[in-house]
Amino acid sequence: MNTQAAATTADPAAGIIIALDLPTRDAAIEIARQLSPHPGLFKIGLQLFIAAGPDIVREVRDLGSAVFLDLKLHDIPNTVGRAVESASSLGAEMLTLHLSGGGAMIKAAVQAAPPGMLLLGVTVLTSSDETTLHETGVATGVKEQVLRLAKVGIGTGLHGLVASPHELRALRAAHGTKVKIVTPGIRPAGAAANDQKRAMTPAEALAAGADYLVIGRPITAAADPRAALAEICAKLEADVV
Ligand code: C5P
Repeated sequence: MNTQAAATTADPAAGIIIALDLPTRDAAIEIARQLSPHPGLFKIGLQLFIAAGPDIVREVRDLGSAVFLDLKLHDIPNTVGRAVESASSLGAEMLTLHLSGGGAMIKAAVQAAPPGMLLLGVTVLTSSDETTLHETGVATGVKEQVLRLAKVGIGTGLHGLVASPHELRALRAAHGTKVKIVTPGIRPAGAAANDQKRAMTPAEALAAGADYLVIGRPITAAADPRAALAEICAKLEADVV
């Protein structure tokens, strides 16, 4: 089980994951430097990982913060297991995989993960709707599919999930507090929504059951990212009682 701190009432900033959705190594390191040391994590997704290569994980960790590698693995069990080992050797503290890969794939990932790594299951992407599910042969609704996949993941030994703000309460009701939940779609009050359609504020998402909050553009696209992060942390400390 992962040792990376999540948000607590005393230290809500420890649960903030900053999404480094940037096109190049230089742009990402520039922002990560400005924001380091950060008590939470930096998220490296496909765009940056493919552009900058695995060294970006080491470089960000060298700045003193933990890394969430958001690669959403989905392949045959052996390939996923070996990919988890590779991510672990880079030092990633968190890693995502698609739960739709099924129990055997999830089990291979769980068996390959070292004790310090938090594996996070992705259920139904928020860009998917019922039409997407039906197109791909899934006859149930989105909410049922989210709960179904989460149950497969947790039942196979995963300790973490990625969930949109509006799925939090149902997942907490189904799985209690034994699972760590990471939630994107966060917007501080008054911030631009960008393409996030049903966002919650940081304090709302924590109250709904999130352990970690993924926040990207409200920080990374701000004129002063350090000030934007400080403002979010100060507001959280004031709101979370
Ligand atoms: O900039 P913004 O705060 O919208 O970034 C949110 C991050 O969370 C992005 O990296 C995005 O890919 C990710 N994410 C999301 N919604 C999901 C899953 C991941 O916004 N359902």
